[in-house]
Parts: sequence; C-alpha cells; structure tokens
Amino acid sequence: MTQLPGLLDTEAIRKDFPLLDRQVHDGKKVVYLDNAATSQKPRQVLDALNAYYERHNANVHRGVHVLAEEATALYEGARDKVAAFINAPSRDEVIFTKNASESLNLVANMLGWADEPYRVDHETEIVITEMEHHSNIVPWQLLAQRTGAKLKWFGITDDGRLDLSDIDEIITEKTKIVSFTLVSNIMGTVNPVETIIRRAQEVGALVCIDASQAAPHMVLDVQALQADFVAFTGHKMCGPTGIGVLWGRQELLEDLPPFLGGGEMIETVSMHSSTYAPAPHKFEAGTPPIAQAVGLGAAVDYLTSIGMDNIAAHEHAITEYAVKRLLEVPDLRIIGPSTAEDRGATISFTLGDIHPHDVGQVLDEQGIAVRVGHHCARPVCLRYGIPATTRASFYLYSTPAEVDALVEGLEHVRNFFG
Ligand code: ALA
Repeated sequence: MTQLPGLLDTEAIRKDFPLLDRQVHDGKKVVYLDNAATSQKPRQVLDALNAYYERHNANVHRGVHVLAEEATALYEGARDKVAAFINAPSRDEVIFTKNASESLNLVANMLGWADEPYRVDHETEIVITEMEHHSNIVPWQLLAQRTGAKLKWFGITDDGRLDLSDIDEIITEKTKIVSFTLVSNIMGTVNPVETIIRRAQEVGALVCIDASQAAPHMVLDVQALQADFVAFTGHKMCGPTGIGVLWGRQELLEDLPPFLGGGEMIETVSMHSSTYAPAPHKFEAGTPPIAQAVGLGAAVDYLTSIGMDNIAAHEHAITEYAVKRLLEVPDLRIIGPSTAEDRGATISFTLGDIHPHDVGQVLDEQGIAVRVGHHCARPVCLRYGIPATTRASFYLYSTPAEVDALVEGLEHVRNFFG
C-alpha cells in the first residue's frame, strides 16, 4: 500500500463512516471522490441527529417546558461550537441559514435594502471573480440589476489562478463589496485573500468570502482573515444538509437590515410596524434548522477531534499524489493548478475529447463516484472553452489506493473509448 508523509490513520477514520462500506454495481466497493459536492457523515453526526429527534425534539426559544429548553440549549450550543471553530469574536456573529447559497444571498439582500453608508446604487460597483460558484455570482447579478450597480470581476489565468494584474482598476473607490471564494469548487485553487482584502480595505469596500470549500478542509479563522462576512455550508464538512452559516462582523449585523421577516426575528410587532431582535436572531426568521444545527455541532466536534491542520496535511499529501498520478494518464489535462501548491483537494480534468459525462459513467460502473459537468461554475468552463470537466475531490478519509483506483478507472475509460 502506498504510504505518504502526513497521512491520517484512514483505516480508523473510515470505520466512522458507514457509507464508505457501501458496495455498488454487483459488489464493487464505492470509491467516493465527490466530496466537493457533499461529504459523507460520520456515525458521531448520525448519532447526534438521532439522539436529538429521539430525546430532545421541540421548537426552540419559545417553550417553557423541559424539551424546549433542551432543544434551545442544543441549538444555541451548536452556535457556540461553530463560533469557536471559526474563532469568531462573538457567538452572536454566527447566523444559521439553510446553506452557503442562502448565506451569500443574505449578504446581497442586506446590502440591497441598506441605507448609507452601505447603500448599493447606480454609482457603486460590486466585484466578484470568474471562478465563483453560481451562488456567488447570481445574487450579485440580481443586486446589480435591481440597483443599477456595476458588476465587475477578476479573470482567471491559464493555470487556474486569479488574474490580479489589474486589481487597482477592478477594485476602485466606487467598490462597495468584494465577494470571492477562498477555494474554487471546480479547480481547487486557493486564492490570495490577503492581497484582495488589502486592496478592498484601501478603498473602504466590504469583503465577503465564500468559504464553502475551505471550512471542511483547513483552519478557518475569521479574525485572521479580516473579512466582513464569511459563508459556508454544513453538508460539505461532515454535517447534515439543510444547514449553512453566515458569519458577519457584529457592528455590520447591528447596522444592516434583515432580509426575511417572520417569527423569532422580532422584538415587538404591531399592525403598523415591528422592531427586530438583535443579531443573530434578526436574521433567522421562522423555525430554524434545529436538528441540522445540532448535527453541524457534532460535525465540528468530530473535525476538531481530528484536527484541521492534520486534515489539511492529509489532503495535501493526497493531492500531491493525485496530481502526479493523473498527469501520467495520456491525454489528461488538469483544468486549474497542476501542482499541489496553493490548491485544495479538488481536481478537475478533461480526458482527450471523451465527454466528461461518458468518463463519469464508465467510472461509475467501476464504483468510482466523481462529479461531471460545469459544477455550478459555468464561467470557468467557458473560460477554458470546454463544455464540462470530470472532477475528483478528496477528503479526510480518502486514500492513495483510491487515487490508484481512479487512475486505473481512467485507463479503462481510455480503452473503452479506443
Ligand atoms: N457546490 C457543490 C459542488 O461544487 C454542489 O459540487
């Protein structure tokens, strides 16, 4: 078995993930390489979800009975865990949403309804990048259409990095918000946050970071990042679906208006007007995703027990090995950085002129799960003049043997298509 420095004890870790034992297509062991789409869930998270529903289920913040108090303590306890996980200065800066898309839409809508000094109008500019997931493009397009603001973006270099050569022309005195991904969901590129934030701060623009592909894989310290908003989702980091997070700086959350109105987010309501509860509740209208938050809390405990630095080191070793092995496959072209430096464990590629959907199907027949398509980042495919990619994405339980299985699977694809 291939041994690489920095690897985690995957034999032990994999025992925590029941799904990794699944067999598909007549007894083929599943090789799960679609972690950028969603991660598998450890037993610790599944147990926390079960225990919540079996023993504590009630609505939060409203009941005086013991179950409501327990559910509230579990829900708010999950907020404490997430706040500690991202080193938030205050638990009140952690807003639970349904996913990262909702978190990013929340930021765009807070700004869309805001007065000065945050007001976005026809004289202001919004900056994103060409490598964003659609969830960090469309909300800003909607905001720009509604307000007349100008949408600008950083392009991508041939090797899958952000082209920051014209940073001073892209981010200007007119820029109100710069929103970009920390790690590309399609190419795995890790972006130079400091350079972008420094320029945004020079012109007084707010910064929003999509950390969906970062939070599961590396230490995420919102104080070190120095952004104003950070969005991520639970289901890519061993948590359940239906739970996302928006972290925002406290003074901004105090100043900015809510987006969704309803129960739980108010202080008082009359038939004429309402006043709002302080953040984070101001931004959490309606019954929140309680069980999902509890599950995310358990996921945070699980990842913390393994150590985010250890997970990052494991994934770096796997990525280095995967890049090397994939580049040995004839006709394979990596879309994005073709070294393991400043990149995450997500690797997109094309294989000659075989359509990625065909690649994915033949891999699937061998039990290998990858994602094919534009990965909700279609502008990246347009940039490289390709319709789609095949994407393999690794996580803390991925092994060198799974990389080998992928490479063998691709040989099989090549033989199959002559
Ligand atoms: N955003 C997820 C992905 O990149 C679904 O696959």
